[in-house]
Amino acid sequence: MGIFKIKGGIPLKGHFRAVGAKNAITKLLVASLISEKRYLFFNVPNILDVEITVGLCKEIGSIVNWDTKERVIEISTPCLKTTYIPQRFSGSNRIPILMIGALLGRTDEDIIVPMAGGCKIGRRPVDFHIKSLEKLGASIEYREMKKEGAYFARAHEGLQGCLIELPYPSVGATENTILAACRAKGTTVIKNAAIEPEVIDLVLFLQKLGVAIVVDVDRTIRIQPAQEFYEVEHTVVTDRIEVASLAMAAIGTKGHIFIEGAQHLHMIAFLNKLRELGAGFHIRNNGIEFFYRGALKGGILLETDVHPGFLTDWQQPFVALLTQAEGHSIVHETVHENRFGYTETLKEMGADIQIFNECLGNLPCRFRARNYAHSIVIKGVTPLVSKAIAIPDLRAGFAYVIAALMAPDETILSGIHFLDRGYEDLAMKLASLGADINHEPKSKKKETASNTTLTTTHTHS
Ligand code: EPU
Repeated sequence: MGIFKIKGGIPLKGHFRAVGAKNAITKLLVASLISEKRYLFFNVPNILDVEITVGLCKEIGSIVNWDTKERVIEISTPCLKTTYIPQRFSGSNRIPILMIGALLGRTDEDIIVPMAGGCKIGRRPVDFHIKSLEKLGASIEYREMKKEGAYFARAHEGLQGCLIELPYPSVGATENTILAACRAKGTTVIKNAAIEPEVIDLVLFLQKLGVAIVVDVDRTIRIQPAQEFYEVEHTVVTDRIEVASLAMAAIGTKGHIFIEGAQHLHMIAFLNKLRELGAGFHIRNNGIEFFYRGALKGGILLETDVHPGFLTDWQQPFVALLTQAEGHSIVHETVHENRFGYTETLKEMGADIQIFNECLGNLPCRFRARNYAHSIVIKGVTPLVSKAIAIPDLRAGFAYVIAALMAPDETILSGIHFLDRGYEDLAMKLASLGADINHEPKSKKKETASNTTLTTTHTHS
């Protein structure tokens, strides 16, 4: 994938249209597997995680047409070619494990799924997924394979709806349980469910598809299986992570951007923190404007949480921004236990950040007294110096992009394939907002961001 060379200090200005959410479309594609009908998705981002998920669906028999230019995917899975997900999909993202929920009600065969991957931000077990699916009647075994382990799942007696109380409102476990419940007999009730906008997008899709599904205000989701499946068109919910990431890049560079399609309702916790920071935003009827309005104010207590709290995926870029806010700020990560590894590099760039194992906040936290480095104190303002950086994961990668955009000299970023997992045409997008960014492909052929567009109008079938 090559490297990004970013010369910072230029305010980002301009506008762009936000794309659909990675964490919604990947699940919607998996959800399409629960029947043989044809589904059409609009507003699909052209990112690596979608490409991987399309590959996964095609592996088991989906017919996929992806028009990346029009952002449309048409998918149908008339029959299952196999229910074995090869190990090459292990580690690519968190999606394979959801295949169990989607396929259990459709086949008597064993569903074999490699271990879940995704960003290395903690242990990220799948015990809640397994326990919920077992409660619905599945038998799931973990077996060692050639290179690493895989889950073997089956429901020979069929699935039976029941009451499931999740120990924590896990996004993935909620989605997996919902998917399985769509073909179980009787009603399934999930208590303490995740209600992230991307989960609600899945709920909306499934309702259109024929499932009777209700989301109560107290994190209870009730699912009655579909009697009949319908063909469905669905526009993917806007990516609130892309919106916030680019908004923070604009504010960090003292710029001003308008993001068409940004949805106020999904950004409330983020906007409140921007206001505390002294940054500006205007909600327009078709999007949100974000802008710098004078020295950023620290003294903030930021605690990540499940929705409607402050999203953990906004945390890393926000910390990059806090290095430029006056005074001490605290960040308490309560969702993933190991999401501050990236701060070492920010420190090497000049940031003043201390890490603590204690909970430096008020929210109930599963990591209390468990010796995880999950709180930090940041002292700003510290000038940032450029350096060569290897990106370790997706959102840490964006924190480094912001740091690079704020540092005055040239920063070289390698490992940019992590960014491609979740941000569409990032170099292009930043360049169009005025950033001095060059994408140098691995071939060493020097090309600028504007002529190395990763977008291609190809059709995946
Ligand atoms: N957890 C368990 N057991 C389980 C499931 C989760 O202990 O069986 C724990 C996890 O270890 C974690 C917490 O519960 O500490 C939350 O995990 P959750 O299941 O909610 O996360 P996920 O479904 O694996 C999705 C997003 C993440 C995002 C989290 C939280 C996708 C593909 N990923 O992960 O997004 O951080 O929800 O909102 O939807 C990203 O986009 O960069 C990203 C990491």
